[in-house]
Amino acid sequence: MKAAIESLASIEQEASKGIEGASTLHELDQVRVRYLGRKGSLTGILRSLASMPAEERRSVGKEANRLKALLGQRIEERTRQITEEMARRVEGQAAQLDVTLPGRKTWLGHKHPLSQGLQEIVDVFLRMGFSIAVGPDVEWDYYNFEALNMPADHPARDMWSTFFITDTMLLRTHTSPVQIRVMEREKPPIRIITPGRCYRVDLDASHAPNLHQIEGLYVDRDVSLGDLKGTLELFAAAVYGDDVKSRFVPSYFPFTEPSAEMYISCTICGGTGCRVCHSGWVEILGCGMVDPAVFEAVGYDAEEWTGFAFGMGVERVLMLKHRIDDIRLFYENDVRFLRQF
Ligand code: PHE
Repeated sequence: MKAAIESLASIEQEASKGIEGASTLHELDQVRVRYLGRKGSLTGILRSLASMPAEERRSVGKEANRLKALLGQRIEERTRQITEEMARRVEGQAAQLDVTLPGRKTWLGHKHPLSQGLQEIVDVFLRMGFSIAVGPDVEWDYYNFEALNMPADHPARDMWSTFFITDTMLLRTHTSPVQIRVMEREKPPIRIITPGRCYRVDLDASHAPNLHQIEGLYVDRDVSLGDLKGTLELFAAAVYGDDVKSRFVPSYFPFTEPSAEMYISCTICGGTGCRVCHSGWVEILGCGMVDPAVFEAVGYDAEEWTGFAFGMGVERVLMLKHRIDDIRLFYENDVRFLRQF
């Protein structure tokens, strides 16, 4: 009996220490299991009561039950303390966390403004029934000049400062050679646009050595200057808005006759005249009726077929749309510029 009472005393001591020392609910539960669990030491003593002599059973039983109640109470108490401590700690952290601080923004990438704009312009013409054609950037002199009614030594070649690779090969200076390539392999009617890169020996605020053009070509019977005007006016309204005004000024290109430059009302002053446009008008593209000499070069009967062509610089069209004053911004890839689109 003495032995049983002594072991109850040591259980009380150890268990009390364990309960005090537990700093998490998990640790506290481990203490409970050790003494009060199914295989716990106090539980063991309580189970052995049945086989004890009556007198011993009474005194040991009384002591053991008192201890069971006491430990249960202490564990409950400690559980409350630990829970409160946890709550205080979380509150302290919340005080340090300013949920009203603006977050750090992550920037989503997007298409380059030039690609966006190119797509937008192409879409306008696709809606009108044009389809896309492409040609090589490295081009033969024949397609870039000769078949476009500019034989060797033709003075109009000087309109394009050209990167020559050999005497007969060059970096195309415009997308017009694609007209020839398409007409060589297809019969009219033809309705194409040809987006692509071009190259010129040029560099300042409005000229880049590498630029993008979109060429248009429409060949059918009885195509008129009115068709050309109507098509380009629709394009201008789609890109610059319905309020934009346009005018066609006579010009010269060897591959069109008559030729014109299309002007739109200045996007900055709206057509009243400002520092940028002076006259209220800005030039956006070259165009004209396909010259019979071009049809002859591709084997079309110039008596039967008529057509119009136009060519625009994508950078220029977009500079006027977004009022960008330096073409080089498109190539420097300064994110402060790119993010605005
Ligand atoms: N290719 C000409 C240029 O680069 C533009 C143009 C295309 C003009 C088609 C007339 C017809 O300047």
